[in-house]
Amino acid sequence: MELTLSIIKPDATDKNIIGKIYSRFEQNGFRIVAAKMLHLNYDLAAGFYAIHKDKAFYQELINYMTSAPVMIQVLEAENAVAKHREIMGATNPKDAKEGTIRRDFASSIDKNAVHGSDSIENAKIEIAYFFKDDEIYSNIS
Ligand code: CMP
Repeated sequence: MELTLSIIKPDATDKNIIGKIYSRFEQNGFRIVAAKMLHLNYDLAAGFYAIHKDKAFYQELINYMTSAPVMIQVLEAENAVAKHREIMGATNPKDAKEGTIRRDFASSIDKNAVHGSDSIENAKIEIAYFFKDDEIYSNIS
């Protein structure tokens, strides 16, 4: 069993489709073992995406991620990181396969509905960024 971090982004919370995206998680065998809604401030968003700070899209990414509330959750499943990336689809919804969350709900590379950890190592860092151990209802650490 493995844990990964998921964020439902402002475009998806705006569209009122948190439940639809949660259903995708559950239908694909994930358990939601922690969750919180937050309106990220600049520092929290900038810290989370620090890995991208030299990229051309960084400023726009931070502005966007602080524009409305997001829903943040920890998902548990076997091979959770890879499996979650598979059901999210490619970063750019134009490249995402049919039946993926981004293909079905996202409108652009910026407004791409969801974020997911890209490696087991980053999942641990990202989960710890938003959740204390006693906020995660999982038997694995
Ligand atoms: P996410 O998985 O949240 O990680 C970083 C985000 O930056 C990414 O999804 C996209 O929404 C956004 N982004 C904007 N432009 C690009 C780009 N050219 N390449 C990758 N990510 C981008």
